[in-house]
Amino acid sequence: MQIALSASRPSDASTLIFPIAKGSAIAPAIEAHALAAEAAGASRFGGEAGALVELFVSEAGKTLRVVLVGTGEGNAADFEKAGAAITARLLTSGVTQACVDGAGIAASSLAHLGLGALLRAWRIDTYRTKLAEKAKPTLETLTLVSDAADLATLWAEQEALAAGVAFTRELVAEPGNIIYPETFVERCRPLADLGIEVSVLDEADMEKLGMGALLGVAQGSIRKPRLLALRWDGTGGAQATPLVLVGKGVTFDTGGISLKPGPGMEDMKWDMGGAGAVVGTMKALALRKANAHVVGICGLVENMPDGGAQRPGDIVTTMSGQTVEVLNTDAEGRLVLCDAITWAQNTYKPEVLIDLATLTGAMIISLGHEHGGLFSNDEGLANQLLTAGLESGDKLWRFPLSDAYDKLLDSPIADIKNIGPRYAGSITAAQFIKRFVNEGVKWAHLDIAGMVWADKPGATWDKGATGFGVRLLDQLVRDHYSAS
Ligand code: BES
Ligand code: MN
Ligand code: ZN
Repeated sequence: MQIALSASRPSDASTLIFPIAKGSAIAPAIEAHALAAEAAGASRFGGEAGALVELFVSEAGKTLRVVLVGTGEGNAADFEKAGAAITARLLTSGVTQACVDGAGIAASSLAHLGLGALLRAWRIDTYRTKLAEKAKPTLETLTLVSDAADLATLWAEQEALAAGVAFTRELVAEPGNIIYPETFVERCRPLADLGIEVSVLDEADMEKLGMGALLGVAQGSIRKPRLLALRWDGTGGAQATPLVLVGKGVTFDTGGISLKPGPGMEDMKWDMGGAGAVVGTMKALALRKANAHVVGICGLVENMPDGGAQRPGDIVTTMSGQTVEVLNTDAEGRLVLCDAITWAQNTYKPEVLIDLATLTGAMIISLGHEHGGLFSNDEGLANQLLTAGLESGDKLWRFPLSDAYDKLLDSPIADIKNIGPRYAGSITAAQFIKRFVNEGVKWAHLDIAGMVWADKPGATWDKGATGFGVRLLDQLVRDHYSAS
């Protein structure tokens, strides 16, 4: 489905959508469609965000489908819900074209409605060869009808964001036999056409650099690891130091020799959700030509248990020089991230570094599917992220870090062990990463294990990949990392 913009209602429009604020009366323009007001009353429609009434009316001998959609209090999230409700209802309804009456609605609100509609319309049908006729998407175009002069510009920005989220969702939803380190990189190559500089390290490069922790995870798989770096500089060199984002890209996590139980293991195809969010953000920034300098780095490996796999008890030497006792091969994300972060710091000398990872099951125990976990060594950065979370809808909740937690990772034989004791598993995972963050670097770690996949539909997504993190990071860049 695509969104189109038009100053007037297309003459052949047969599905008309009217956004209605909470508690507001049905406007005369809508009353003209006999029954609309009555249908709203009979359905107890009160304009609640995303509430919907659908009816058929007759106009000049033609049958029109009229949809009233609630826009609630009128904030951005409410308009997104309204847009999402429209596509959730119409996508497979048989309707091919629909238009939204934007009269009297601010261009920014309409753009958010379009964003919600586009996000909710995303789906992956690649592997369905037998989709029932009635389950096939029919809606091709949703036209936003408005004469607001700034709608085109505002919409272009939201469309870029939606494309970034869609890219993340695609990578997250693809199975492990299709997306592995090399193919993840191949899917990202076309980003070069948008002006993103793409660079890739292979196994030999990483060996030379001494990335023993990342390579230790990869060694049990026939899929070769990759380190991917994407750089977008929309400032023309004005911002010398980039904001650096680092994503965990474990394209499948079996646990390795510390094998995971079978039931639910298929979920571990989305253990690259952090890397997915990073590349989706880069795509969105490049598409909207963000006036910012951002580097996105992905540590890409597959965690498998074969004869070459690392063993519990193995000691690996990280690129930083610190040694790690690998007590559990299933705590692999931190082993990938530590080397990716060391390389990122050496290469780009960032002042601010944010990593994203589906790092711990414990995160889901503590926050469920409502917030991602935030860990940071800097109050200012933490607050920027918390605020961007509220603004974008990708919400975060902050956890503590302290020397007492850090101590739990001391190893009797190496510098650090890769697991702590049973409790506070998400915090000790964050403390592990913190040991690889250079003095003076403002760092935040986002544990998004509970957020990248949804078992039920949400505000702007269906079941499946959510694209969590893209909107958050795009908002953060907008608010704090753009040159003016
Ligand atoms: N990828 C998992 C974390 C995870 C689990 C994400 C479930 C999403 C859903 C991670 O690599 C992992 O296995 N973590 C272990 C750490 C433990 C061995 C200290 C975990 O959470 O059990
Ligand atoms: Mn694991
Ligand atoms: Zn993992």
